[in-house]
Amino acid sequence: MRQSILDLDASKIREVANAGLGRQDVLAFWFGESDEVTPEFIRRAAIQSLERGETFYAHNLGLSSLREAVAGYTGRLHPPVGVERIAITSGGVSALMLAVQTLVDAGDEVVAVTPVWPNLVAQPKIMGARLKRVSLTPRGGAWGLDLQRLLDAITPATRLLIVNAPNNPTGWTLSREEHVAILAHCRATGTWILADEVYERLYYENSAHGCAPSFLDVALPDDRLVVAHSFSKSFLMTGWRLGWLVMPAAMTEHMGKVLEFNTSCASVFTQRAGVAALQGADEVTPRVVAHLKHCRDVLLPALQALPQVRAAPASGGMYAFFTLDGFGDSLAVAKRLVTEAGLGLAPGSAFAPEAGNWLRWCFASKDVSRLEQGVDRLRSWLASQP
Ligand SMILES: Cc1ncc(COP(=O)(O)O)c(C=O)c1O
Repeated sequence: MRQSILDLDASKIREVANAGLGRQDVLAFWFGESDEVTPEFIRRAAIQSLERGETFYAHNLGLSSLREAVAGYTGRLHPPVGVERIAITSGGVSALMLAVQTLVDAGDEVVAVTPVWPNLVAQPKIMGARLKRVSLTPRGGAWGLDLQRLLDAITPATRLLIVNAPNNPTGWTLSREEHVAILAHCRATGTWILADEVYERLYYENSAHGCAPSFLDVALPDDRLVVAHSFSKSFLMTGWRLGWLVMPAAMTEHMGKVLEFNTSCASVFTQRAGVAALQGADEVTPRVVAHLKHCRDVLLPALQALPQVRAAPASGGMYAFFTLDGFGDSLAVAKRLVTEAGLGLAPGSAFAPEAGNWLRWCFASKDVSRLEQGVDRLRSWLASQP
């Protein structure tokens, strides 16, 4: 086996979840998905496609109807984007891997902003890249970017910058001014940017279109920018495995080749569901986001009321990220919380060594009272500690 595969870390979130295997009574908030089923009209579109017998391969880059729908949707949130810049992928994670495969050679330097969802640093490692991490800085219960430190880390030797904002797990987002500064710097160093913007609609600050600031708002069509997106979060479609990429037009043909050798194409019935989702976006997404904001606004004050907890409200995403005073290694704490309190959280060390004392709580819960019950369990467990 390749050394870079042998060196990959096993998922620490799975390690915690395994500690609760077979226990029905655990309140699980460890994975990053809502427990609400995909809206009926989206499921119906897939069923109708299968009933029509759409069981065959499709174009590598996706159905033209879905690519057009994605271009239209993107253009409603950001400056117009042509269909020729869109590729449909089998989920956001595949979109990101395709981008990394297309851009990174073994030995290339890749800069990643951390803490971050582990897949984003594993993917360049799989390609044999040299990874340079630039950490956000904890400020009270929140995390912020030291922009100059990031810019200093990106040099002409840097092939790719990977940045996820709104960020999983911290909830941190990039401002328009930061997008402009990073883009200008990467133009000067010849560095590609891979922007993971799958949480762009899960944004709780004021905004013109119900959308976080994006690199697409400030970039030119030919900039070295690839943006990864997903149907998973904004449309409650995690299990469908559907996402997309926005890239410079000159790259799309090559992305089609890389797609061929990965998945060949996303399944047609899934893509039909994607078209329906985008047609109904104004119905689904604002409701999903309003509910998530409510979840955040229930969970955060309840957590902050615990004297040991240090937490700040996330401006985007679907996670509370917090520390527990008096407790160290969050992997050990998360395992104890599963077995002793029946509470399933993700350890911060899954996202970066510097977040080793933090815990992540996914607040995407259809039934908000589950969040309150979870906080009750945490409170009782803390009270029982010597
Ligand atoms: C930051 C980030 N990017 C991408 C994804 C990929 O989502 P999916 O593969 O379900 O589209 C996730 C999923 O949790 C995520 O947290």
